[in-house]
Amino acid sequence: MRSLVSVRELGKKDVEDILKKAKGYRKGKVSKLEGDVALLFLEPSTRTRVSFEKACRRLGMNTYTVLGESSSLTKGESFLDTLKTFEALGFSGVVFRVPFVLFPYEGITKSINLSLINAGDSTHQHPTQGLIDLFTLKEVYGKLDGLKVLYVGDILHSRVFRSGAPLLRMFGAEVSVCGPRTLIPRDVHVFEVKEVFDSVDEGIDWADVVIWLRLQRERQRENFVPSERSYFERFGLTRDRYKNLKGYFMHPGPVNREIDIDGSLLYSEKSLIQGQVKNGLYVRMAVLSWCFEG
Ligand code: CP
Repeated sequence: MRSLVSVRELGKKDVEDILKKAKGYRKGKVSKLEGDVALLFLEPSTRTRVSFEKACRRLGMNTYTVLGESSSLTKGESFLDTLKTFEALGFSGVVFRVPFVLFPYEGITKSINLSLINAGDSTHQHPTQGLIDLFTLKEVYGKLDGLKVLYVGDILHSRVFRSGAPLLRMFGAEVSVCGPRTLIPRDVHVFEVKEVFDSVDEGIDWADVVIWLRLQRERQRENFVPSERSYFERFGLTRDRYKNLKGYFMHPGPVNREIDIDGSLLYSEKSLIQGQVKNGLYVRMAVLSWCFEG
């Protein structure tokens, strides 16, 4: 039994094993697991929650969903005590999305007889989204050696960037970022970024693939950008910028139309958005299988 809280725990062999399993599931491979999985979602989610639920069921596992307002965490119970409750009830694992950073977490994973799978902890990690983005890019480009990937937008609050960038670097891609300086984390170089672009047009010139991120208004306690309109004009994917893209663009979703991306471009020829969502099912099946089967 394994847990997956951060991509930093994964070696290249682990990632290759997960991607191989995902490829098998995409081709229709069947494998059966048993047991009960709790889906503890204390923050909103559509694609992550539903695809984990579908992945569990397709593998033969039972799912039990607990949402924020209905959980006893709102009555003051701690996260650890909530996990101990699932453990006592005989669950095999908990897929969790929480509004706080789970770090350090080794004390929790070691003290509990459950697989813990992180579906997003505040601004820290979203390992399955990072794996989905890696899987999707490998599907399109094959080898990622030297592929130039640009993340654009709210890097500061992005667990998607913090999960995706280390995985893309692991497979030889070059990673750069672009966004308002107020939304670039001070420790961005920890992620081995090649360049920090102030101009999205210069970033687009550099990049083979661009990953737009959502402007996360709900996490911003001050005005990091003058207005959504000016942000879209300076950093968004507009129709003019679309013409200059050398290759594909991605977005983990949910998209803020006319803030991150012009709505008319979401499902266009150069968009990999639907592919990312589709791959979410196979990658999450693979992660569940990797955690429970080994
Ligand atoms: N990408 C992502 O995590 O989407 P949801 O918030 O809809 O799960």
